[in-house]
Amino acid sequence: MGKVVFAFIIVHNMILVLFSCRYGILTARTSRMETDFNTGMDTTKEKQPIVPCGLIAWSIFNDTYKFVSKNKNLTVNRKDIAWGSDRRFRFGSDVYPKNFQRRDLIGGGHLNESLPLRQQEDLIVWMRTAALPTFRKLYGKIEVDLEAKDEIEIVIENNYNTYMFGGTKKLVLSTTTLMGGRNPFVGTAYLFIGSLSLPLGDPSYLSWNKNPGGMIK
Ligand SMILES: *[C@@H]1O[C@H](CO)[C@@H](O)[C@H](O)[C@H]1NC(C)=O
Ligand SMILES: *[C@@H]1O[C@H](CO)[C@@H](O)[C@H](O)[C@H]1NC(C)=O
Ligand SMILES: *[C@@H]1O[C@H](CO)[C@@H](O)[C@H](O)[C@H]1NC(C)=O
Repeated sequence: MGKVVFAFIIVHNMILVLFSCRYGILTARTSRMETDFNTGMDTTKEKQPIVPCGLIAWSIFNDTYKFVSKNKNLTVNRKDIAWGSDRRFRFGSDVYPKNFQRRDLIGGGHLNESLPLRQQEDLIVWMRTAALPTFRKLYGKIEVDLEAKDEIEIVIENNYNTYMFGGTKKLVLSTTTLMGGRNPFVGTAYLFIGSLSLPLGDPSYLSWNKNPGGMIK
């Protein structure tokens, strides 16, 4: 077994659309940011700009997973999960979240307002647009040597509401990064099938539809 196990989330039946929001806002300097916004998901009711704006950011995934093996908590590294080019060119190092999730309907996770967007890698990963309604996103890396047949217990905080759009979500563990290609999902669908036979066990047993919260063993 390789040293790094990648944990992916797969969301079915969700279309991430770019909507009334320009990427420019993510990299713009603060002064420009104040003026360069649209209506809709870009502003609060008081017309204050929302940063990051748009439906995709708003819908950022917010389940959390903890992994336990042999009674030890496995560290999940959630850094270096985003593409370097996304981080450097599309997300400002001097742009901080502002007014995020302050509208009536909360679409997903919250962001730490004291970290610039460039350091919020789960956001960067989430904002890489997906071409298909089923997509996968890297959740984190488990940098621990696991042996074949190791049992992993996963503690799920089931926050993310996929029922409202009739979607499902899955968690997949894989030793393959799937990060190399331009479009990881299309390019590596067969690798995903390959990962099903990993010695970690059958990931379908990690998938869930309707059990809110709790533990999957
Ligand atoms: C693992 O983390 C949980 C909280 O998430 C904590 O309650 C527990 O004591 C930790 N276990 C070990 C073995 O560190
Ligand atoms: C998580 O996202 C859901 C929407 O899917 C939202 O209703 C909920 O308030 C969010 N919870 C947290 C803790 O961010
Ligand atoms: C937000 O980020 C700051 C700076 O890294 C950190 O000190 C703080 O604990 C974080 N807050 C939360 C709620 O994670």
